[in-house]
Amino acid sequence: MNMKILANDGISAAGQAALEADGHEVLTTFIEQGELADFIGKEGIDGLLVRSATQVRSDLIDACPALKFVIRGGVGMDNIDVDYARSKGVVVSNTPASSSQSVAELVMGHLFSLSRFLHDSNRKMPGEGPSQFKTLKKTYGKGTELRGKTLAVVGFGRIGRSLAGYALGCGMNVVAVDQKTGSTEVPLALGNGASTSAQVNIVTLAEALPMADAISLHIPAQSDGRAVIDGAAIAQMKDGVLLVNAARGGVVDEDALLSALDAGKVRAAALDVFVGEPSPRADVCAHPRLALTPHTGAATLEAQDRIGLEIAEIVSQLNETATA
Ligand code: 3PG
Repeated sequence: MNMKILANDGISAAGQAALEADGHEVLTTFIEQGELADFIGKEGIDGLLVRSATQVRSDLIDACPALKFVIRGGVGMDNIDVDYARSKGVVVSNTPASSSQSVAELVMGHLFSLSRFLHDSNRKMPGEGPSQFKTLKKTYGKGTELRGKTLAVVGFGRIGRSLAGYALGCGMNVVAVDQKTGSTEVPLALGNGASTSAQVNIVTLAEALPMADAISLHIPAQSDGRAVIDGAAIAQMKDGVLLVNAARGGVVDEDALLSALDAGKVRAAALDVFVGEPSPRADVCAHPRLALTPHTGAATLEAQDRIGLEIAEIVSQLNETATA
Protein backbone atom coordinates (compact mmCIF):
# COMPACT_ATOMS: atom_id res chain seq x y z
CA MET A 1 0.00 0.00 0.00
CA ASN A 2 1.39 3.40 -0.98
CA MET A 3 1.23 5.87 1.87
CA LYS A 4 1.54 9.59 2.45
CA ILE A 5 4.17 10.28 5.09
CA LEU A 6 5.01 13.55 6.82
CA ALA A 7 8.63 13.79 8.05
CA ASN A 8 8.02 16.77 10.30
CA ASP A 9 11.49 17.00 11.84
CA GLY A 10 13.24 16.05 8.60
CA ILE A 11 14.66 12.84 7.19
CA SER A 12 17.95 12.08 5.41
CA ALA A 13 17.99 12.05 1.61
CA ALA A 14 18.82 8.32 1.74
CA GLY A 15 15.82 7.59 3.98
CA GLN A 16 13.47 9.66 1.84
CA ALA A 17 14.74 7.98 -1.34
CA ALA A 18 14.21 4.51 0.18
CA LEU A 19 10.62 5.35 1.18
CA GLU A 20 9.91 6.84 -2.25
CA ALA A 21 11.44 3.82 -3.98
CA ASP A 22 8.85 1.74 -2.08
CA GLY A 23 6.13 3.94 -3.61
CA HIS A 24 5.40 6.23 -0.66
CA GLU A 25 4.97 9.99 -0.88
CA VAL A 26 7.18 11.83 1.62
CA LEU A 27 6.45 15.42 2.68
CA THR A 28 9.31 17.21 4.42
CA THR A 29 7.66 20.59 5.06
CA PHE A 30 7.89 21.52 8.74
CA ILE A 31 4.44 22.08 10.18
CA GLU A 32 4.14 24.08 13.41
CA GLN A 33 2.87 22.09 16.37
CA GLY A 34 -0.45 24.00 16.55
CA GLU A 35 -1.23 23.38 12.88
CA LEU A 36 -0.17 19.75 12.76
CA ALA A 37 -3.52 18.08 13.44
CA ASP A 38 -5.28 20.15 10.74
CA PHE A 39 -2.51 19.46 8.22
CA ILE A 40 -2.52 15.71 8.88
CA GLY A 41 -6.30 15.60 8.45
CA LYS A 42 -6.46 17.77 5.32
CA GLU A 43 -3.51 16.14 3.58
CA GLY A 44 -4.60 12.60 4.45
CA ILE A 45 -1.29 11.76 6.13
CA ASP A 46 -0.94 8.04 6.94
CA GLY A 47 2.30 8.16 8.87
CA LEU A 48 4.14 10.78 10.90
CA LEU A 49 7.94 10.77 11.30
CA VAL A 50 9.40 12.85 14.13
CA ARG A 51 12.71 13.43 15.92
CA SER A 52 12.60 14.94 19.41
CA ALA A 53 11.13 18.35 18.48
CA THR A 54 7.56 17.49 17.41
CA GLN A 55 5.28 16.56 20.30
CA VAL A 56 2.88 13.70 19.68
CA ARG A 57 0.53 13.96 22.63
CA SER A 58 -2.88 12.39 23.19
CA ASP A 59 -4.73 15.46 21.81
CA LEU A 60 -2.93 15.09 18.47
CA ILE A 61 -3.68 11.35 18.38
CA ASP A 62 -7.37 12.07 19.09
CA ALA A 63 -7.48 14.75 16.39
CA CYS A 64 -5.95 12.43 13.75
CA PRO A 65 -8.03 9.21 13.77
CA ALA A 66 -6.73 8.15 10.33
CA LEU A 67 -3.08 8.25 11.38
CA LYS A 68 -1.62 4.74 11.10
CA PHE A 69 1.86 5.12 12.52
CA VAL A 70 4.29 7.42 14.28
CA ILE A 71 8.00 6.68 13.97
CA ARG A 72 10.54 8.45 16.14
CA GLY A 73 13.82 8.74 14.25
CA GLY A 74 16.09 8.27 17.25
CA VAL A 75 15.90 6.62 20.63
CA GLY A 76 14.07 8.63 23.32
CA MET A 77 10.29 8.63 22.94
CA ASP A 78 9.51 11.09 25.74
CA ASN A 79 7.93 13.45 23.16
CA ILE A 80 5.30 10.82 22.29
CA ASP A 81 2.39 9.51 24.38
CA VAL A 82 3.36 6.00 23.33
CA ASP A 83 0.87 3.94 25.38
CA TYR A 84 -2.01 6.23 24.48
CA ALA A 85 -1.22 6.14 20.77
CA ARG A 86 -0.97 2.34 20.83
CA SER A 87 -4.24 2.09 22.74
CA LYS A 88 -5.83 3.93 19.79
CA GLY A 89 -4.36 1.49 17.29
CA VAL A 90 -1.52 3.74 16.11
CA VAL A 91 1.74 1.84 15.59
CA VAL A 92 4.61 3.59 17.38
CA SER A 93 8.25 2.77 16.84
CA ASN A 94 11.70 4.28 17.25
CA THR A 95 15.04 3.51 15.58
CA PRO A 96 17.09 2.23 18.51
CA ALA A 97 19.99 0.75 16.54
CA SER A 98 21.10 3.69 14.43
CA SER A 99 22.65 6.39 16.57
CA SER A 100 24.64 4.63 19.33
CA GLN A 101 28.02 5.08 17.67
CA SER A 102 27.49 8.81 17.06
CA VAL A 103 26.44 9.45 20.67
CA ALA A 104 29.39 7.40 21.95
CA GLU A 105 31.83 9.40 19.80
CA LEU A 106 30.39 12.70 21.02
CA VAL A 107 30.84 11.58 24.63
CA MET A 108 34.45 10.56 23.96
CA GLY A 109 34.98 13.97 22.34
CA HIS A 110 33.63 15.66 25.45
CA LEU A 111 35.78 13.51 27.74
CA PHE A 112 38.93 14.41 25.80
CA SER A 113 37.84 18.06 25.76
CA LEU A 114 37.10 18.22 29.50
CA SER A 115 40.31 16.50 30.52
CA ARG A 116 42.44 19.00 28.51
CA PHE A 117 40.23 22.15 28.83
CA LEU A 118 39.64 22.31 25.05
CA HIS A 119 36.21 23.90 25.47
CA ASP A 120 37.60 26.69 27.68
CA SER A 121 40.71 27.17 25.59
CA ASN A 122 38.58 27.60 22.48
CA ARG A 123 36.54 30.27 24.27
CA LYS A 124 39.53 32.21 25.61
CA MET A 125 42.13 32.04 22.83
CA PRO A 126 40.23 34.14 20.24
CA GLY A 127 39.66 37.15 22.53
CA GLU A 128 42.27 38.16 25.08
CA GLY A 129 43.96 34.83 24.47
CA PRO A 130 46.85 35.73 22.16
CA SER A 131 48.21 38.28 24.65
CA GLN A 132 47.66 35.81 27.49
CA PHE A 133 49.35 32.90 25.72
CA LYS A 134 51.80 32.12 28.51
CA THR A 135 49.16 32.38 31.25
CA LEU A 136 46.75 30.16 29.32
CA LYS A 137 49.52 27.65 28.58
CA LYS A 138 50.12 27.40 32.33
CA THR A 139 46.40 27.02 33.11
CA TYR A 140 45.70 24.45 30.42
CA GLY A 141 48.91 22.60 31.19
CA LYS A 142 47.20 21.04 34.19
CA GLY A 143 45.07 18.62 32.19
CA THR A 144 44.98 14.87 32.65
CA GLU A 145 45.03 11.78 30.43
CA LEU A 146 42.12 9.40 29.96
CA ARG A 147 44.17 6.21 29.66
CA GLY A 148 44.17 4.32 32.95
CA LYS A 149 41.25 6.28 34.40
CA THR A 150 37.92 4.68 35.33
CA LEU A 151 34.77 5.58 33.41
CA ALA A 152 31.38 4.71 34.91
CA VAL A 153 28.77 4.25 32.18
CA VAL A 154 25.38 4.72 33.81
CA GLY A 155 22.80 2.91 31.69
CA PHE A 156 24.18 0.02 29.67
CA GLY A 157 21.94 -0.22 26.63
CA ARG A 158 23.17 0.13 23.06
CA ILE A 159 24.68 3.60 23.55
CA GLY A 160 26.32 2.73 26.87
CA ARG A 161 27.85 -0.42 25.39
CA SER A 162 29.09 1.45 22.34
CA LEU A 163 30.70 4.09 24.57
CA ALA A 164 32.31 1.36 26.66
CA GLY A 165 33.89 -0.07 23.50
CA TYR A 166 35.46 3.31 22.65
CA ALA A 167 36.64 3.97 26.22
CA LEU A 168 38.18 0.50 26.56
CA GLY A 169 39.89 1.04 23.21
CA CYS A 170 41.45 4.21 24.64
CA GLY A 171 42.80 2.29 27.61
CA MET A 172 40.21 3.42 30.14
CA ASN A 173 38.82 1.05 32.76
CA VAL A 174 35.06 0.80 32.43
CA VAL A 175 32.38 -0.11 34.96
CA ALA A 176 28.75 -0.24 33.95
CA VAL A 177 25.67 0.62 35.98
CA ASP A 178 22.55 -1.23 35.00
CA GLN A 179 19.53 -2.89 36.60
CA LYS A 180 21.10 -6.34 36.69
CA THR A 181 24.59 -6.47 38.23
CA GLY A 182 27.23 -9.06 37.22
CA SER A 183 29.50 -8.85 34.23
CA THR A 184 29.09 -8.60 30.47
CA GLU A 185 31.24 -8.89 27.37
CA VAL A 186 31.64 -5.72 25.34
CA PRO A 187 32.78 -5.87 21.70
CA LEU A 188 35.54 -3.48 20.58
CA ALA A 189 35.62 -2.67 16.89
CA LEU A 190 39.23 -1.81 16.02
CA GLY A 191 40.58 -0.39 12.79
CA ASN A 192 41.68 -2.43 9.78
CA GLY A 193 38.71 -4.77 10.28
CA ALA A 194 40.08 -6.12 13.57
CA SER A 195 37.90 -6.66 16.59
CA THR A 196 38.15 -7.99 20.09
CA SER A 197 36.09 -7.91 23.28
CA ALA A 198 36.50 -7.20 26.98
CA GLN A 199 34.63 -8.06 30.17
CA VAL A 200 32.93 -5.17 31.96
CA ASN A 201 31.62 -5.38 35.52
CA ILE A 202 28.09 -4.15 36.13
CA VAL A 203 27.69 -2.57 39.55
CA THR A 204 25.11 -0.45 41.38
CA LEU A 205 25.13 3.34 41.06
CA ALA A 206 26.14 3.60 44.72
CA GLU A 207 29.15 1.37 44.04
CA ALA A 208 30.14 3.16 40.82
CA LEU A 209 30.03 6.77 42.03
CA PRO A 210 33.01 6.67 44.43
CA MET A 211 35.23 4.65 42.05
CA ALA A 212 34.83 6.69 38.85
CA ASP A 213 37.16 9.37 37.51
CA ALA A 214 34.57 10.13 34.84
CA ILE A 215 30.85 9.38 34.63
CA SER A 216 28.63 9.34 31.54
CA LEU A 217 24.85 9.00 31.66
CA HIS A 218 22.83 6.91 29.21
CA ILE A 219 19.47 6.55 30.91
CA PRO A 220 16.04 7.79 29.84
CA ALA A 221 14.21 10.64 31.56
CA GLN A 222 12.69 9.20 34.73
CA SER A 223 8.90 8.86 34.65
CA ASP A 224 8.58 11.03 37.76
CA GLY A 225 10.99 13.65 36.35
CA ARG A 226 13.49 12.88 39.14
CA ALA A 227 17.18 13.71 38.70
CA VAL A 228 19.29 10.56 39.04
CA ILE A 229 22.39 12.67 39.61
CA ASP A 230 21.41 15.09 42.39
CA GLY A 231 23.38 16.73 45.18
CA ALA A 232 23.41 13.53 47.24
CA ALA A 233 24.75 11.48 44.31
CA ILE A 234 27.41 14.09 43.54
CA ALA A 235 28.53 13.99 47.18
CA GLN A 236 29.36 10.29 46.70
CA MET A 237 31.65 10.99 43.71
CA LYS A 238 35.42 11.35 43.74
CA ASP A 239 36.69 14.92 44.11
CA GLY A 240 37.54 16.29 40.67
CA VAL A 241 35.34 13.86 38.75
CA LEU A 242 34.33 14.58 35.12
CA LEU A 243 30.64 14.25 34.25
CA VAL A 244 28.92 13.97 30.85
CA ASN A 245 25.18 14.03 30.21
CA ALA A 246 24.19 13.17 26.64
CA ALA A 247 21.04 11.35 27.79
CA ARG A 248 18.17 13.66 28.75
CA GLY A 249 17.91 17.07 30.38
CA GLY A 250 16.78 16.63 33.97
CA VAL A 251 18.54 13.36 34.76
CA VAL A 252 21.21 15.65 36.23
CA ASP A 253 20.04 18.32 38.69
CA GLU A 254 21.45 21.44 37.03
CA ASP A 255 21.51 23.49 40.27
CA ALA A 256 23.41 20.74 42.07
CA LEU A 257 25.82 20.48 39.13
CA LEU A 258 26.55 24.23 39.08
CA SER A 259 27.22 24.20 42.85
CA ALA A 260 29.53 21.17 42.48
CA LEU A 261 31.41 22.86 39.62
CA ASP A 262 31.83 26.06 41.65
CA ALA A 263 33.09 24.03 44.61
CA GLY A 264 35.50 22.04 42.41
CA LYS A 265 33.86 18.76 43.48
CA VAL A 266 33.11 18.18 39.79
CA ARG A 267 36.20 19.35 37.87
CA ALA A 268 34.32 19.88 34.64
CA ALA A 269 31.17 18.62 32.95
CA ALA A 270 29.70 18.37 29.47
CA LEU A 271 26.04 18.73 28.63
CA ASP A 272 24.47 17.78 25.31
CA VAL A 273 20.96 17.85 26.80
CA PHE A 274 19.29 20.46 28.97
CA VAL A 275 16.28 21.15 31.12
CA GLY A 276 13.87 23.35 29.13
CA GLU A 277 15.26 22.61 25.63
CA PRO A 278 15.43 24.43 23.29
CA SER A 279 16.01 27.30 25.76
CA PRO A 280 18.65 26.17 28.25
CA ARG A 281 19.43 28.32 31.29
CA ALA A 282 21.81 31.22 30.61
CA ASP A 283 23.86 30.49 33.75
CA VAL A 284 24.34 26.88 32.60
CA CYS A 285 25.52 28.00 29.14
CA ALA A 286 27.88 30.58 30.61
CA HIS A 287 29.66 28.36 33.13
CA PRO A 288 33.39 28.17 32.31
CA ARG A 289 33.66 24.54 33.45
CA LEU A 290 30.82 23.32 31.26
CA ALA A 291 31.37 22.08 27.71
CA LEU A 292 28.19 22.44 25.69
CA THR A 293 26.63 20.93 22.59
CA PRO A 294 23.03 21.60 21.47
CA HIS A 295 21.65 18.02 21.65
CA THR A 296 23.76 16.85 18.73
CA GLY A 297 24.73 13.45 20.16
CA ALA A 298 22.89 11.52 17.46
CA ALA A 299 23.30 14.18 14.80
CA THR A 300 25.94 12.96 12.38
CA LEU A 301 25.50 12.45 8.66
CA GLU A 302 26.10 8.71 9.10
CA ALA A 303 23.55 8.37 11.92
CA GLN A 304 20.96 10.43 9.99
CA ASP A 305 21.36 8.08 7.03
CA ARG A 306 21.10 4.96 9.20
CA ILE A 307 18.02 6.41 10.94
CA GLY A 308 16.38 7.20 7.59
CA LEU A 309 17.06 3.71 6.26
CA GLU A 310 15.85 2.10 9.51
CA ILE A 311 12.63 4.11 9.21
CA ALA A 312 12.15 2.91 5.62
CA GLU A 313 12.68 -0.68 6.81
CA ILE A 314 10.12 -0.28 9.63
CA VAL A 315 7.56 1.19 7.21
CA SER A 316 8.17 -1.67 4.79
CA GLN A 317 7.59 -4.24 7.57
CA LEU A 318 4.42 -2.42 8.67
CA ASN A 319 3.15 -2.56 5.12
CA GLU A 320 3.92 -6.29 4.85
CA THR A 321 2.07 -6.98 8.13
CA ALA A 322 -0.89 -4.86 7.04
CA THR A 323 -1.22 -6.61 3.67
CA ALA A 324 -0.51 -10.16 4.97
C1 3PG B 1 17.61 10.37 20.85
O1 3PG B 1 16.85 10.17 21.80
O2 3PG B 1 17.62 9.65 19.84
C2 3PG B 1 18.58 11.52 20.91
O3 3PG B 1 18.42 12.27 22.06
C3 3PG B 1 18.58 12.37 19.66
O4 3PG B 1 17.57 13.32 19.61
P1 3PG B 1 17.30 14.11 18.23
O5 3PG B 1 16.48 13.20 17.38
O6 3PG B 1 16.54 15.34 18.61
O7 3PG B 1 18.61 14.42 17.61
